[in-house]
Amino acid sequence: MARILVTGAGGQLGSRLVARIPDSIGFTSTELDITDPAAVGAAVGPGDLVLNCAAYTAVDQAETDRAAAFRVNADGPRRLAEACAEVGARLIHVSTDYVFAGTGTEPYEVTAPTAPRTVYGRSKLAGEQAVAEVLPSATVVRTAWVYSGAGADFVATMRRLEAQRETLDVVDDQIGSPTLAADLAAGLAELAALPDPPPMLHFTNAGQASWYELARAVFAGIGADPDRIRPCTSAQFPRPARRPAYSVLSGRAWLAAGLRAPRPWRDALETALV
Ligand SMILES: NC(=O)c1ccc[n+]([C@@H]2O[C@H](COP(=O)([O-])OP(=O)(O)OC[C@H]3O[C@@H](n4cnc5c(N)ncnc54)[C@H](OP(=O)(O)O)[C@@H]3O)[C@@H](O)[C@H]2O)c1
Repeated sequence: MARILVTGAGGQLGSRLVARIPDSIGFTSTELDITDPAAVGAAVGPGDLVLNCAAYTAVDQAETDRAAAFRVNADGPRRLAEACAEVGARLIHVSTDYVFAGTGTEPYEVTAPTAPRTVYGRSKLAGEQAVAEVLPSATVVRTAWVYSGAGADFVATMRRLEAQRETLDVVDDQIGSPTLAADLAAGLAELAALPDPPPMLHFTNAGQASWYELARAVFAGIGADPDRIRPCTSAQFPRPARRPAYSVLSGRAWLAAGLRAPRPWRDALETALV
């Protein structure tokens, strides 16, 4: 019987996906290392659908840990695609807005030219390309600014800092679409049921915001004064990996495939703050 396998099931997205698809089989990084060819070959069977949520996501660390980032984000997806091709399985692979330069002013279409500026972005692009080359029937889904409101993600961090600091400086010159991990998981579950999905899709919650605007929305959502958040520039907070200034992904291809429109990011955030 066809099974749904979720790799990276211990992560933010993978854990929500396993919760969303009741009969799915989740593999944490210790249960299935996607860079281990023999283990991947043994895990994937004929007719399976693999949802790859495993990734090296330490964006700053990747700048000095290139080999590890490429091993997980490029070689891993290639091996998964090969295993799927060998036995006749399907693959949905998750990628990122960081494959784009971030210099745009209009939402990036699935066909927009890629030009990653970071090691992480280059490793994820290499993963997309490997998947497309080895398994043309696979679907790559790019997403951005994913949070669940738990752990150390941006929304959870803002909640924690609200209790600790009177004011907070948050960057106002990076624009993206905040995306609730549970909404992305629901979108991927819907996509998994589509018989003939296209090779490339984008999924984020609808609308756009800067991190400053998102931080204000978090404060407002928990009943704190949003004016305690002050805008600042990325130049004031230099990081090893330079973030894209503009990261908005167009959902046009998602809708054209007949999939449900994602809800606005503010509605999704409300759910996460309950
Ligand atoms: N978070 C975002 O804002 C964001 C934005 C755009 C795109 N994405 C993409 O969305 C996907 C899911 O990201 P996420 O936010 O859920 O990241 P995450 O919370 O860091 O989860 C990634 C998971 O991959 C696992 N993993 C790492 N190396 C592995 C390996 N060799 N074999 C198997 N599993 C391995 C990690 O396990 P350990 O923790 O045990 O290492 C972790 O559980 C990724 O493709 C990411 O690139 C995320």
